[in-house]
Amino acid sequence: MKAVAVFPGSQEVTLIEQEEPNITQPNQVKLRMLDIGICGTDREICTFAYGTPPTDSDYLIIGHEALGEVVEVGAAVTQLNAGDLVVPTVRRPCSHSRCRSCRAGHQDFCETGDFTERGIQGAHGFLTEFVVDEARYMNRAPQHLREVAVLVEPLTIAKKAEYQLYGLMQRRPPWIDPAVSGRTQGRGHRALVLGAGPVGLLGAMALRTAEFETFIYSREQEPDPRIEVAHAIGATYLSSQRVPASGLEAHIGPIDLVYEAVGHSLLALEVLHGLGPNGIYVLTGVPGRQTLVEADPATLFREMVLKNQVVLGTVNAGPHDFSAAIADLETFHQRWPDAVRTLMAQRTPIEQAVERILRRPAGIKSVISFRS
Ligand code: BGC
Repeated sequence: MKAVAVFPGSQEVTLIEQEEPNITQPNQVKLRMLDIGICGTDREICTFAYGTPPTDSDYLIIGHEALGEVVEVGAAVTQLNAGDLVVPTVRRPCSHSRCRSCRAGHQDFCETGDFTERGIQGAHGFLTEFVVDEARYMNRAPQHLREVAVLVEPLTIAKKAEYQLYGLMQRRPPWIDPAVSGRTQGRGHRALVLGAGPVGLLGAMALRTAEFETFIYSREQEPDPRIEVAHAIGATYLSSQRVPASGLEAHIGPIDLVYEAVGHSLLALEVLHGLGPNGIYVLTGVPGRQTLVEADPATLFREMVLKNQVVLGTVNAGPHDFSAAIADLETFHQRWPDAVRTLMAQRTPIEQAVERILRRPAGIKSVISFRS
């Protein structure tokens, strides 16, 4: 069977032939992969700036945003059946007994750093025809989300952020509407999303669903499908080619929440200066190596203290975030079917995957598909 592999030693990204895996443990399932999303992390891995092969391998099979169909289940698997659609969890726990997060099933908060991530860190990924994996890491998606469920994993990033945001909002009682307890309520508050890529746009959909007045700031100018998506979901789009980062506060008013999804540290810093009183700033982008900038930390920290601000970094996602993302995607799909479809303009067969990842991204979210 075919797989896309990165060889860091020889600096190659190529299509390889692998033997099809078989179930060897009763708690495993075998998946036929359907769709694999490509993101900035994959591009970094393919330029050898990130990612690590498994310890016993000189290559890494990439792909972590995945949708598969169960084709076989081990004898001890009771919750899944052949034909089920599943989105696999990316991160797997470390083995240390002292890691309270991993031992509690929350490897997205791993304390030792010795976790693995399928397709990224120490474990092969899903950009291959068949995969065998443990059933407990599978998140079932309804059949009617077949065409869009590959978006679940990038949406989990926003759902994890939102879950933490809910906790943070408790510090400020007026933000919480008792009628909808347990959920983040943005009504009457302004959120700014940095970046109109899939993570940013899915985050904006989650914020609109939580009733934030939502602004999206990115470099595109009209006409552009990303801007169409922004308008379709009722967000206001601001182009960085027309509004400088320093002018955002003047355009928007006090910003209660920033959801950063770019990984550009200078932009992130500039926008932090415009965060409003009691504001929360969520960083999700992972900056690569960038040029050094001069900063004025005294002013920054003074403002943060005097305005009760919070800066929060968040990575990966836990089991709760996967089920929340699947539920949200159903809502988005019903509410904005065209916008959700626009995110995935076209699918690419595995034979052209390397070209698509390295040279010619397609649509807002590039998707490699195994359908015949
Ligand atoms: C993935 C996460 C992962 C992170 C860091 C992201 O692209 O979506 O699952 O934890 O990269 O490796």
